[in-house]
Amino acid sequence: MVNLDKYSSIFIANWKLNGNSSFLKDYYEKLKVNSNNCTIICSPSIYLKSLKRNNESLFCGAQDVSSYKEGAYTGELSASMLRDNNIDFCLVGHSERRQYFAETNDNVNIKSSNLIEENIIPVICIGETLEQKENNLTEQILSTQIKDGIPSSANHQNALIAYEPVWAIGTGLTPTLDEINQVHELIKHFDTKFRNFKVLYGGSVKSSNSKEINDLNHVDGCLIGGASLKVDEFNIIIS
Ligand code: 13P
Repeated sequence: MVNLDKYSSIFIANWKLNGNSSFLKDYYEKLKVNSNNCTIICSPSIYLKSLKRNNESLFCGAQDVSSYKEGAYTGELSASMLRDNNIDFCLVGHSERRQYFAETNDNVNIKSSNLIEENIIPVICIGETLEQKENNLTEQILSTQIKDGIPSSANHQNALIAYEPVWAIGTGLTPTLDEINQVHELIKHFDTKFRNFKVLYGGSVKSSNSKEINDLNHVDGCLIGGASLKVDEFNIIIS
């Protein structure tokens, strides 16, 4: 399992449903990783085997995994198959999976547990919708997502948490820096168990705001969607 304690920050590119072979080739020709940080590229699953890694500061991640370990589940990809292909990280419970594929906290819990068994680090995504925020439900929603979605086997060395407010994803909107720091602190204090967890921020991170967000004392890195598709911009974010 990757030793997360080695890195000053963790940056994850979530390409979502984007990319093709020539995009990938061009991307890795231009990508400049910083050896102090951990950089993880999460591609669509068909490209996972073409992703590059140096096992020092550059790794590969999947965007999802099956809840099932094996059997008659057409179209699925198991945690052991990811391990068999040297995938070290996997996003779990991204809000788009919760929204469009009806993923529940229970699914997130099972997937994360299966990944940990295979020495793959789950990046467990949590976050509130705008409606929940406006109704002052952020703390309650995050607490439930954490309590029900994070398996008992998870610890600060084998799992990551990503806080992505749903209303900040792909919108250009972000919480204020104070809000981000406060929510990250809250997450780390829901239970003593989470005190040392690394918590990444995601939602409209760009080269123009990544430094100030990542410099916040309770933020341990960023999960980047749209801006990670532009390699020149991503290079600035991870530099
Ligand atoms: P954007 O960076 O495009 O807002 O997406 C964030 C995200 O969903 C990363 O997982």
